[in-house]
Amino acid sequence: MDNNNQIAMDDIQGLILRGYNFPNIRYIILSIKDVDGARKFCADLASGEGVGGLQITNAMPWENKVKPEYCLNIGFTYSGLEQLIGTDNCNTVYNNSSMEVFNSFSVGAVTDAPYIGDTCESSPENWWKNGGWIPKGEPSADNSELHIQITLYTLTPENRELYYEKLLKMIPETKSGSSVVPVYFQDSDPIIVDGDPEYIHFGYRDSLSQPRIEGVIWDDPMVKRLMGVSTVDDRPLVPADRFVISCQSAPDYYAHPLLANGSFAAFRLLYQDEAKFNAFINSDPETSPELMAAKMCGRWRDGTPLVVSPDKEDKSLGKPGSRNFSFTNFDYLTPSPNQPGDQSSDNLGLKCPYAAHIRRSNPRDDYYVTDNNNNAQTHRIVRRASPYGPVYDPTEKEGIQRGLVGLFIGAVLDFQFRFITKTWLELGGFRNPDASPNQSGIDPLFGPQADDVNPAHDTVFAYNKEGTYRQIPSMTRFIRTDGSMYLFLPGMQGLKYISQGIIPPTSN
Ligand code: HEM
Repeated sequence: MDNNNQIAMDDIQGLILRGYNFPNIRYIILSIKDVDGARKFCADLASGEGVGGLQITNAMPWENKVKPEYCLNIGFTYSGLEQLIGTDNCNTVYNNSSMEVFNSFSVGAVTDAPYIGDTCESSPENWWKNGGWIPKGEPSADNSELHIQITLYTLTPENRELYYEKLLKMIPETKSGSSVVPVYFQDSDPIIVDGDPEYIHFGYRDSLSQPRIEGVIWDDPMVKRLMGVSTVDDRPLVPADRFVISCQSAPDYYAHPLLANGSFAAFRLLYQDEAKFNAFINSDPETSPELMAAKMCGRWRDGTPLVVSPDKEDKSLGKPGSRNFSFTNFDYLTPSPNQPGDQSSDNLGLKCPYAAHIRRSNPRDDYYVTDNNNNAQTHRIVRRASPYGPVYDPTEKEGIQRGLVGLFIGAVLDFQFRFITKTWLELGGFRNPDASPNQSGIDPLFGPQADDVNPAHDTVFAYNKEGTYRQIPSMTRFIRTDGSMYLFLPGMQGLKYISQGIIPPTSN
């Protein structure tokens, strides 16, 4: 926000407010070896004036709506920030921000792992080993050498290599080698189904529901008309301070000025066990695999929401996309007159189970859900994740790596990513009343961890079929966390401070 409380698009990293829809992505993690060199690297990325000339992409609309050749975004772990601005400055930021804003970030993903369910196979000692860990040695137990995360988005695989080379050229050399070294990378390329490049593993159409953010110009009805997209999007607006840290006007947190116009994110590397998932959706003779997959997610695999069309995919909704509001403008209790298809209330979870992934991760108007007395708006997240690895082939050898990688963004991890994961995805009994025999168990797309304390409930997936509950046993863990980091995504001005190793005065 600027001094007039307007969104300062030029000071905010682009990925926070817009999906780029670039096909070829590289997620890179870097380690700082020399602080002065790392600061120069950050300064050059902020100004675009370094050797390779790459610059962090801000949220300004693209000129003539033409996509640039690349987009680039940056985040820092706490240990990265500490290297760059020093422990005293970090303490000042900590002491002048709400606990919810800075504490979880400073504690970091390794320490937080048991709280958010990263246990058993998903626990930190197993992280970063599958895929692109570059150094010969293992990552350290506390992951303290992971400092910077950069995401490079390009329009072709060739450009990904080209711009990656340019990025590496920007890193200053010291007498003892590069000042910053890449330690991990993961590429992401689209999964295309019937010409649609937005599918993910397990066969679902993704990239549909994102929050409608107050004050962002492409959510403005006038701009939408000019862009030629439907104006019928009456989902509640989410205050911008949920995605862009406000140091002036957020009602339920305060933050040090270094954080202004920045955000926080959980970077997640999530392996998907498609063989196990396929076995599960095929395990009940009375439930077709397509229906089972739909009940687990809350959408048919082509994206059609179950509350809109409970019995089959609905091609009349048009081409799926985040700007086709037929796929996103729906509610669970009191549908708006603009909701397409079936407009009956789904208070009983007959169409979309309470347990379904999208109902748990965004219960919308279902105020019977724990802590959802404000229409879920305070807990929304922006998802910037994409698939990695080849499409599953039942005849493949074991050990092929595939899954979802990327950032789950929100200004306050405690209100958003951590809250959703802990309270809504992980717990049964998160809705009262809940007539399902297993109290809705845990999110069925994830499945229970081996150390689950409540296997009688959590290994069963139950959905309502024609008035009675169909119970599908033997649900196992389908998703494994292979890496996680909590990141600060600074505003452009914040990045300049970081690159000088300083912080703005608290009274700014
Ligand atoms: C490999 C792991 C995951 C898979 C396969 C997956 C799959 C999906 C799919 C297929 C959708 C529906 C498409 C859409 O609405 O855009 C969706 C939506 C969503 N997911 Fe996930 N997801 C995963 C991880 C997560 C995690 C870790 C979170 C948060 C902690 C999350 C939060 C959400 C949210 C908030 C929505 C939108 C719900 C709505 O607004 O209706 N997902 N996910």
